[in-house]
Amino acid sequence: MATLQQFQTLKKLSEVNVSIKELFEQEPDRLNRFVMREGPLRADFSKQALSSEALSALLKMAAKCDLEEWRAKLFAGESVNSSEDRAVLHMALRGVGGSKEVQKQVSEMRRHMADYADKIRSEGKFKNIVHIGIGGSDLGPRLVADGFEACAEQSLTLRFAENVDGASINDAVNGLDPTETLVIIVSKSFGTQETKMNGASARAWLKEGIGELASDHMLAVTANRNGAVDFGVREENIFDFWDWVGGRYSVWSAVGLSLQLAYGPDVFSEFLDGAAAMDMHFRDQPLQENLPVMMALVGIWNRNILDYSSLAVIPYSRRIRKLAAFLQQLEMESNGKRITRNGKEAGLTCPIIWGDEGTNGQHAFFQWLHQGPSAGKYGGAPVDFIAVLKDHESRPEHHRALLANCFAQSEALMLGKSEDFVRQELGKRDDLEELAPQKSFPGNRPSTTITLDELSPFALGELIALYEHKVFVQGVIWNVNSFDQWGVELGKVLATTILDEMSSGHSGQHDASTTALMDLVKP
Ligand code: F6P
Repeated sequence: MATLQQFQTLKKLSEVNVSIKELFEQEPDRLNRFVMREGPLRADFSKQALSSEALSALLKMAAKCDLEEWRAKLFAGESVNSSEDRAVLHMALRGVGGSKEVQKQVSEMRRHMADYADKIRSEGKFKNIVHIGIGGSDLGPRLVADGFEACAEQSLTLRFAENVDGASINDAVNGLDPTETLVIIVSKSFGTQETKMNGASARAWLKEGIGELASDHMLAVTANRNGAVDFGVREENIFDFWDWVGGRYSVWSAVGLSLQLAYGPDVFSEFLDGAAAMDMHFRDQPLQENLPVMMALVGIWNRNILDYSSLAVIPYSRRIRKLAAFLQQLEMESNGKRITRNGKEAGLTCPIIWGDEGTNGQHAFFQWLHQGPSAGKYGGAPVDFIAVLKDHESRPEHHRALLANCFAQSEALMLGKSEDFVRQELGKRDDLEELAPQKSFPGNRPSTTITLDELSPFALGELIALYEHKVFVQGVIWNVNSFDQWGVELGKVLATTILDEMSSGHSGQHDASTTALMDLVKP
């Protein structure tokens, strides 16, 4: 864990008033140090408000947090998820890390999934898949399905139902023929209220259409086989995964079965290979040449030293527009914690992750990004821009405009526009003193630009694995357990109590507000 003294040293380095623009002048080789590449993924951190000297201090701090030792524990399959006494081995799902026995089990599961997908795709009986799941059982598959749209042939339609709001399952089955539809209930615990309710409604929909054949059309993906059997899924229709796979890290497991069915095992395998490349990079590269480490340290600098409370993730690529939603769970459910592994106050940890696709955000919240105040040292919020260099839509003019906007926004955030410059632009006018400040841009606002040479399954795998390992590194530095999620339990328990009372009509003991709210829906 980083010590207060280490953060104070770093804070001092941040008090040197040198703009990002000046850093380029002072550090002529800035790009060599602040741009890193792993395969088709290039990350440019040079527009961060971070000097080379401060980066060296951050790396020293990371080393003193036993980061290399923690990294070794992670890949060795040690109990890194200490509060649940579990290993954390999502990397093993793509062939990196874990024991020989773990690797053997993973290979068997991958074979089983691929054979099943090949069978279903060649038989042609099913035309549609309804993937039912929420959180990590939904966000990854949903993001990746969109991403695969750019680079792979979709053979079966893929619908998702996640929310317990009836609109979710209604939209998922609307217009589908049950005789041609395969329902996959994805739930690590097989205890999630939304998923079980959606699964029951999907089963009723199947039964209405095909009677008892419904059980031939239902699969389960879970780490709780007994739960799936109790729910009524046939044993042979259950795909297992392990408790050392965290929900938000599970798209690589059988949770991704619907992706294999819709796009084919080869596409999914390439996706796994991309993540494996990033795994090996993270495992083998020294800290100072390590992409996830660099990304994590930039985040620590912005959060703990420059006092930024959020991070904007803005993919300039419609096919990965759901990246911010995916990262909200990956980052905020992993590191949104106030207590360390040893039960002490943790201080500042995970920022708020938010964002939307570019260029849309330019017409929504970029006003705030450019001119908004914030707790952060330079105002606004740090931005992760993600751009795909190759045009997948055969619209070269559109793609050039998309990239130009992405690159321009990071430049504008950094350079800003001074009041003096605005005064010259406006020229003599009565309201000059009021207008010039309003039309000036403070600039010096930090961003990272990640580019993917193309939106391939491989590059998408690298991108997601990059963020997974960034989260791990930050968790080590903040000394929080990135792999449990006790914070989601209380709401679930109270929801069950309130639902029972609403269903039975018997009110329990609640505060006046909750009681009044419940009275609003009393029959
Ligand atoms: O949000 C809480 C959580 O447990 C997540 O960690 C998980 O991804 C999601 O709910 C769904 O859980 P399950 O896959 O067990 O249904």
